[in-house]
Amino acid sequence: MPQTKEIEIVETNTKSSFAIISSCGLIGVNSYTVEIEVDISGGLPNFILVGLPDPAINESRERVRSAIKSSALEFPSKKIVVNLAPADTKKAGPTYDLPIAIGILTCYEPAIINKANLEGLYIVGELGLSGKVRPINGVLSFVILAKKKGAKSIIIPKENSAEASLIEGIKIYPVSNLTEAINVINNLENIPPLKHTILSDIKLINKLNVDFSDVKGQMLAKRAFEISASGQHHILMIGAPGSGKSMLAQRLTTILLPLTYEEKIETTQIYSAAGKLNKENSLIFLRPFRSPHHSTSIAGLIGGGSIPQPGEISLAHKGILFLDEFTEFPRHVLDSLRQAIEIKEVTISRSRRSYTFPCDFTLIAACNPCPCGYFGDNIKKCKCALNNIKKYQSKISGPIIDRIDLQIEVKRLNENEIMSTKLSESSENIKERVLKTKKIQSNRYKNLNISSNSHLSSKEIKHFCKTDKNGELILREAIKTFSLTARSFDRVLKVARTIADLGNSDIIKDEHILEALQFRLNTFQ
Ligand SMILES: Nc1ncnc2c1ncn2[C@@H]1O[C@H](COP(=O)(O)OP(=O)(O)OP(=O)(O)O)[C@@H](O)[C@H]1O
Ligand SMILES: [Mg+2]
Ligand SMILES: [Zn+2]
Repeated sequence: MPQTKEIEIVETNTKSSFAIISSCGLIGVNSYTVEIEVDISGGLPNFILVGLPDPAINESRERVRSAIKSSALEFPSKKIVVNLAPADTKKAGPTYDLPIAIGILTCYEPAIINKANLEGLYIVGELGLSGKVRPINGVLSFVILAKKKGAKSIIIPKENSAEASLIEGIKIYPVSNLTEAINVINNLENIPPLKHTILSDIKLINKLNVDFSDVKGQMLAKRAFEISASGQHHILMIGAPGSGKSMLAQRLTTILLPLTYEEKIETTQIYSAAGKLNKENSLIFLRPFRSPHHSTSIAGLIGGGSIPQPGEISLAHKGILFLDEFTEFPRHVLDSLRQAIEIKEVTISRSRRSYTFPCDFTLIAACNPCPCGYFGDNIKKCKCALNNIKKYQSKISGPIIDRIDLQIEVKRLNENEIMSTKLSESSENIKERVLKTKKIQSNRYKNLNISSNSHLSSKEIKHFCKTDKNGELILREAIKTFSLTARSFDRVLKVARTIADLGNSDIIKDEHILEALQFRLNTFQ
């Protein structure tokens, strides 16, 4: 990038001088203000960073020094102290390079930065040795924070423009190098800010190019997916290899409602904090579909690291978390998952702080019924010893299974189904029913903080899941036959609520309860 030459080489004559620049730090997906205080005084030349910086941030000093020199400016041979306030929060990442450099340059005499323009301005960005401003993680959260704090404008790295442009009501100035940043500060009034992106103008493309019409047969599984999409219920699929489990899971996003504006911001914020936005994927518009391998580390899956980063469960926020070969996930991973499912967020504690990431996903778990995969199959014979089958199935029994509302066996297709050339019902058709059912729920729960039947608490179930007389009789019978616990009883009622909504019925009838009971597998109780 060629650098503009509007700034002359300046002989620095820095007596004791002081500057404060507003910048941002990231905790989880949320941001907080970091005031960067720069003090330059006479004394032995030195450059000190204080305010609990992560050791990696110390490299910032070298980048700032080189970037200033490469921008045809003299680096002061004085004592420079930079304090990152508040000092009780560990600062990590290269976010502070650009504001530190601007803070140092603000102390120059004669002045090369118009100090008055720093009022109400936030600055974030990494610097390269050449003075180039590099992209950073968390820019969307930073812009949201700056706006909330009443800032008039924010300077960000040019490559983070797409995510930043989602926010209206604050002037955003993308810059590609240090010289450009100085020019922007000195000419704030004359430089046009970034244009706001209007989300409705963006045409969405189904990149996966998959549809439920591709899936032959599997009527029970498809019904389960429609119920799941309508009431946000988790699914467990058990079936032989090649029965279509992965195929079904990949199609769930095609029948989900589009993300709302708030959801787009929330999901993009998570991807931004995780550094997962790139040129092709600069904003998250479609419901995420994440399918981490069972060998993924707990930090990769749940979130973690010395400065915690969101894991796969948070990258699946407002979308699908597909866990294939579910039995292969380590026990402790499944236990963490259980908590995440319950509270829809994950909290990671570090010595001084805890970091919270949202993780409101729909879980789609899939596994074989036994180690060889063919237990219960009507064509291939299972070769496993009974002991091994029990051991295999016990890997996912217990508390985790208790939270999965829809459990289904996915049987292999028969010859007629395989040979069939008829297209099944399209995702678009199914989605229309999902949409109607979602509307019923949002009307019913408009005064509550929930959006889906699966979110109902026990108390709310009593109020919203009333059954007719026949339904009550069936439920009484089911408690005995299926040995329903209080928790699984609630689960059946929630699924029955969604089934009744799909049938546009206010009351939960016996037929809805009978269908809900179909989605319980005795294998894993
Ligand atoms: N119901 C179906 N309709 C059309 N094609 C199917 C169906 N089921 C399976 N197939 C075909 O078989 C392939 C394998 O299916 P899929 O990968 O979904 O099986 P799976 O149940 O996930 O198996 P595994 O247990 O080995 O993971 C699919 O890519 C598809 O071509
Ligand atoms: Mg599969
Ligand atoms: Zn087997």
